[in-house]
Amino acid sequence: MPSDFALFPRNFKKQFPVVVRAKGCWLIDENEKRYLDASGQAAVVNIGHGVAEIGHAMAEQSSQVAFAHTTQFHSASAEKLAQRLLALAPPNFRNGRVYFTSGGSEATETAIKLARQYHLERNQPSRYRVISRRQSYHGSTLGAMSVSGNVARRAPYQPLLSEWGHIAPCFCHHCPFDKKFPECCVACANDLENFLCEIDTSSAAAFIFEPIVGATLGAAVPPDGYVARIAEICRKHEILLIADEVMTGMGRTGKLFAVQHWNVEPDIILSGKGIASGYAPLGAVLVSQRIVEAFAGGSGAFMHGFTYQAHPVSTAAGNAVLDYLESNNLFDRVTLAGELLRAALAPLASHSHVSEIRGLGLLLGMEFVKDKSSREPFSKEENIAGKIFQAALAEGVLTYPTQGCVDGQRGDHILLAPPFIISPEESAIIAGALSAALAKVFPT
Ligand SMILES: Cc1ncc(COP(=O)(O)O)c(C=O)c1O
Repeated sequence: MPSDFALFPRNFKKQFPVVVRAKGCWLIDENEKRYLDASGQAAVVNIGHGVAEIGHAMAEQSSQVAFAHTTQFHSASAEKLAQRLLALAPPNFRNGRVYFTSGGSEATETAIKLARQYHLERNQPSRYRVISRRQSYHGSTLGAMSVSGNVARRAPYQPLLSEWGHIAPCFCHHCPFDKKFPECCVACANDLENFLCEIDTSSAAAFIFEPIVGATLGAAVPPDGYVARIAEICRKHEILLIADEVMTGMGRTGKLFAVQHWNVEPDIILSGKGIASGYAPLGAVLVSQRIVEAFAGGSGAFMHGFTYQAHPVSTAAGNAVLDYLESNNLFDRVTLAGELLRAALAPLASHSHVSEIRGLGLLLGMEFVKDKSSREPFSKEENIAGKIFQAALAEGVLTYPTQGCVDGQRGDHILLAPPFIISPEESAIIAGALSAALAKVFPT
């Protein structure tokens, strides 16, 4: 029998509503059901849905020139966005360059190859490893998946993945060393140094990390000193520091880039998601001056490329989104809106199965445990994160559920990352829906 559907779905066992409209923090399906977008889809929709100016800017760009191949032309819209991003990045990016991609995974792939070729340009051909952390996510293509440490997302593809080395995550709520900050002396950062001592250090090219771990750990913020110590170890061993800010960048945590909370200057910053707020597929690799100099003064040519890199219409969307963020002071809104959302959620923190509400700015996570005093997680089979998601959905609120934050299998959390325009009333609706979800999933 012919099927009614042609689109390859994320999951054949699920039914997906068909979205027809969206405005502000709300999505509306074909049956006129309304959903409050408490997760900005997946931390993407920073300015909110349905901003007409963005579409107008894209239409204007495509009416002028929609596409030109980057082997032959550059476009003014890509050049303009690159200059604006570098001006917003840490000081070591001032004379840097930006490589635009179609999303976060391509940005990670690009950074892996940039790191490798950077060392070739400097006559260090032995350096190839991009070291990363367990319990992390950097994208779904094979290079990006190789540096990721998300157990469930890697599992089916294990034989296809390269292994360049994963160190401990930085996750104080379930410390992999069973230590407490500050007595731990950031043992998780020192794990990078220990790993480098175990391998032939001259094989190391770079270290990639999410400054605040998004999907996999549910907005786990590192303690003070962690990011600085990581940067120090990278400098000492002459390896590049890559900050994956696909989720945390573009203002989501209250600073343009999350590394700016700790005044650290990575060599490469990855952006995606909020950079075009979902209006166009766009990612970016911000490349600092010293890497640019190695390429410009070396072979000159980066052996890499995508047909759609630096796409004029996508970068026009990026410029229009940045205009909108700046003219509506939305970057400045994040910290206060985050505090208001946290205040609305605060009463839920005392629930006997909520172990922590964490995060920074408008990237928040809520973790659920079986036993609050020991922080023992539920079994994977109970699928608590999925049940909370379903129960909140029944209240009309969309969240981003994930399992595995404790050990890759067990550990349930949801991520909240609403648009920066979220109002106090909408925050109250989110808190109300989660309160109802907790009551439904954990009846007394
Ligand atoms: C930190 C991080 N890096 C990379 C990616 C991959 O981005 P994309 O899904 O746009 O390829 C994601 C996506 O969730 C992410 O959260």
